[in-house]
Amino acid sequence: MKAFVALSMCLVLFSCNGLVSNALDTITTNQSIRDGESLLSAGGIFELGFFSKGDPPKRYLGIWYKKITTTIVWVANRAAPLADTSGTLRVTHRGSLVLLSGNGSEIWSSNWSIPVLNPVAQLLDSGNLVVKDADGSDPNNFMWQSFDHPTDTSLARMKIGWNRTSGFERYLTSWKSIDDPSPGSFTLHLDPNGYPQLLLKQGSDIKFRSGPWNGLRWSGTPNLNPNPYYRYGFVLNEEETYYHYELLNSSVISRLILIPNGILERFTWIDRMRGWTLYLTAPIDQCDDYATCGAYGSCRVDASPVCRCLKGFVPQFSQEWDILDWSNGCVRKNPLDCEKDIFVPYSSLKLPDTQSSWFNKSMNLQECKVVCLKNCSCTAYSNLDIQDGGSGCLLWFGKLMDIREYNENGQDLYIRMAASESALLPSHQKKHKPVMALAVSFGSVFLILVLLTICVLQCKKKKMELPQGDNCEDRDADLELPLFDMSTIAIATNYFSTNNKLGEGGFGPVYKGVLMGGQEIAVKVLSRTSRQGLQEFKNEVRYVSKLQHRNLVKLLGCCIQEENLLIYEFMPNRSLDSFLFDPTRREHLDWSARFNIINGIARGLLYLHEDSRLRIIHRDIKASNVLLDYEMNPKISDFGLAKSFTGNETQANTDRVVGTYGYMSPEYALEGVFSTKSDVFSYGVLVLETISGKRNRGFHHPGHRQNLLGHAWRLFSEGRSMQLLDKVVKNSCSTSEALRSIHIGLLCVQRCPDDRPSMSAVVMMLGSDIELPHPKEPGFFNERNLLEESTSQSQPNEITMTGLSAR
Ligand SMILES: *[C@@H]1O[C@H](CO)[C@@H](O)[C@H](O)[C@H]1NC(C)=O
Ligand SMILES: *[C@@H]1O[C@H](CO)[C@@H](O)[C@H](O)[C@H]1NC(C)=O
Ligand SMILES: *[C@@H]1O[C@H](CO)[C@@H](O)[C@H](O)[C@H]1NC(C)=O
Ligand SMILES: *[C@@H]1O[C@H](CO)[C@@H](O)[C@H](O)[C@H]1NC(C)=O
Ligand SMILES: *[C@@H]1O[C@H](CO)[C@@H](O)[C@H](O)[C@H]1NC(C)=O
Ligand SMILES: *[C@@H]1O[C@H](CO)[C@@H](O)[C@H](O)[C@H]1NC(C)=O
Ligand SMILES: *[C@@H]1O[C@H](CO)[C@@H](O)[C@H](O)[C@H]1NC(C)=O
Repeated sequence: MKAFVALSMCLVLFSCNGLVSNALDTITTNQSIRDGESLLSAGGIFELGFFSKGDPPKRYLGIWYKKITTTIVWVANRAAPLADTSGTLRVTHRGSLVLLSGNGSEIWSSNWSIPVLNPVAQLLDSGNLVVKDADGSDPNNFMWQSFDHPTDTSLARMKIGWNRTSGFERYLTSWKSIDDPSPGSFTLHLDPNGYPQLLLKQGSDIKFRSGPWNGLRWSGTPNLNPNPYYRYGFVLNEEETYYHYELLNSSVISRLILIPNGILERFTWIDRMRGWTLYLTAPIDQCDDYATCGAYGSCRVDASPVCRCLKGFVPQFSQEWDILDWSNGCVRKNPLDCEKDIFVPYSSLKLPDTQSSWFNKSMNLQECKVVCLKNCSCTAYSNLDIQDGGSGCLLWFGKLMDIREYNENGQDLYIRMAASESALLPSHQKKHKPVMALAVSFGSVFLILVLLTICVLQCKKKKMELPQGDNCEDRDADLELPLFDMSTIAIATNYFSTNNKLGEGGFGPVYKGVLMGGQEIAVKVLSRTSRQGLQEFKNEVRYVSKLQHRNLVKLLGCCIQEENLLIYEFMPNRSLDSFLFDPTRREHLDWSARFNIINGIARGLLYLHEDSRLRIIHRDIKASNVLLDYEMNPKISDFGLAKSFTGNETQANTDRVVGTYGYMSPEYALEGVFSTKSDVFSYGVLVLETISGKRNRGFHHPGHRQNLLGHAWRLFSEGRSMQLLDKVVKNSCSTSEALRSIHIGLLCVQRCPDDRPSMSAVVMMLGSDIELPHPKEPGFFNERNLLEESTSQSQPNEITMTGLSAR
């Protein structure tokens, strides 16, 4: 008996490892794969077979990880799904792979037509499906391979780029949506013009550019550092040019995917967590959007506004520029004069667009300069490779586009300038002046010192009367926020007329205004009486000015004169709650708008928690703090309660619990413990509110006394989740997206912080269809519990509520 148990255990183990398995990795012309059957690569890593997507479900032939069956890495018939399970895969005698439907018609074909003796199709452990001649002398000579026809995923050893001899290109195309593998609008190409770079495009528009490869990384991916588990590289030779990566440890699973909404993400599988973690995304921020600042403009994500002209350049149309329309970029202050020109170094940059560039790998920087100077249309040069002190030569012709600045790992660029701009040269490069000039300059230094002293005294005096500087300053932080003049804002808001009042924010009224140039703004006024408000005002200035993300509201500047004012971009569609909980306006939010909002808030929070330099816990995520722009894109606002935390610190305690009932996690409301996981809880509440169109707090159901969380949990447990959905989105809704969002919402509101996913996991779960864990009971699902518990454990008046009023 014992032996029998041991034997069956053994069988179970073996079959789990895929060792005892009659699955094949190869088929010949005599064999076929029918729906329900599969090919398994020799090491049991990848599987090829049929899977379903969509509603009603359609059948596709594809490849996935054997141990992560929901992660599809390649699809054969992505544009030609089968309606039923009658599909069969065969290899023809001519060496073509064909997918046939039940009546024998060809659904998809690899289109190979050169006959071979003994063609076979084999699924390799790399995830590559190949067709080769079993009698051929070279087993690595493939007639056809799926790696030449990628879908949305790049696996290790796959090439993204060109065979320069044949002109054949391999590139990624996103899925249309998470449950529709047909080609979406986003593609990732290696652009072969000039010195190659990766371009992420939507149709023919460039969305993001990696910048040229500098020997270590792409110029536009400064965060990409050498990694012990995989090596990535760029190859450029006579025959080929491509990007690829290799796994250095075969136990590592990693993939690069272009997701349906046009973002490139690298995931790495963590066995211990049985989940994918997000390792890298691109584009990351506004400065990654192609040519945000136009020609000769430079984007700095931590500056406000983000764009400025490079030294020696001025806005082409200054009125446009002042109202933050940067598309026409900058122009030279002084025109060029060809041979007399000089080259001015600019450092810490993402190198400009190389579509019209020229390069030579063996020239050095000095030779590079000489060549550039000789050709009057050459506008800049740099090293090609930054390793070992730099080598090679890269020349630009025409306007310099899509430049940004980095705090680390940026590159040097030498830009052609008129000789009259020599003041921009670093001092040691300036021509030596005669002794006479030296004497004069001694004299002028003295004069300047005297003037400076006078000025400082004057300014001090002035400052006492009217506290103001060139920048908005919160004495603790060095901020670079534009300062607005009180009179400008007064005129813009019609002297703070009540007609312009938008509402009452956390620390004072908010007004709508229009600047002279036509730009619409929102102005927050700090009421002078509010002490707590001053702290929150400073907090807001400190954080928002340093954060830049498409899903965070943007601070344009401030004014610290008689009143403390903050000036934001105007959000015409007000806040999410003004739509969601309004009986008529809610109809403007169809399902895709809501799903976009759920995704956008997740990305904004992920940026706060993990990507921003400051690492921030918001502490007051709620529907009224999510503002909507013209296109209903969500932007997180109100950083009055936000806290920054350092790298290792993951949670903190506070005596002063501030936040909003209905959104606060149990551990925060009851014990004052806050962490990124308390934001995750609030996010989960917001997701469920967005889906249902009902407030968590104040939710009533005739059948029970639970709040929205309790209600959602009840429906989920009974398999009736779709009943949570707001009636007005029923028609526009994608069932799989809705079910997934509800499921994720419930994962976020679990009682125990450790059970809740991180925001990176949330973003990943929303963007893919990996299997989700089963949620545990939510925290605070019974509203009455909260009030009883909180009064028993702490004095109710210790719970300070702020920002309760809607705006
Ligand atoms: C296919 O089947 C025929 C007859 O059963 C056999 O003679 C032939 O060798 C097979 N071919 C391959 C490639 O297995
Ligand atoms: C075979 O089935 C496909 C759909 O699976 C259909 O489009 C096609 O018209 C059918 N062909 C014939 C000859 O019936
Ligand atoms: C095969 O050729 C047909 C007709 O030229 C084309 O429609 C189809 O897209 C090709 N299939 C592949 C996988 O390239
Ligand atoms: C590139 O294409 C040429 C011509 O089709 C072919 O001979 C060569 O093998 C290809 N190179 C690679 C590396 O695939
Ligand atoms: C590969 O990674 C695994 C898990 O991280 C580790 O145990 C193993 O030693 C690594 N192997 C090599 C060759 O580095
Ligand atoms: C690159 O520069 C080297 C050294 O100056 C020169 O010998 C070579 O011809 C150049 N190559 C091209 C393609 O211009
Ligand atoms: C300057 O370089 C451009 C681009 O390589 C080239 O077309 C042009 O002929 C060059 N002009 C001169 C004068 O060499």
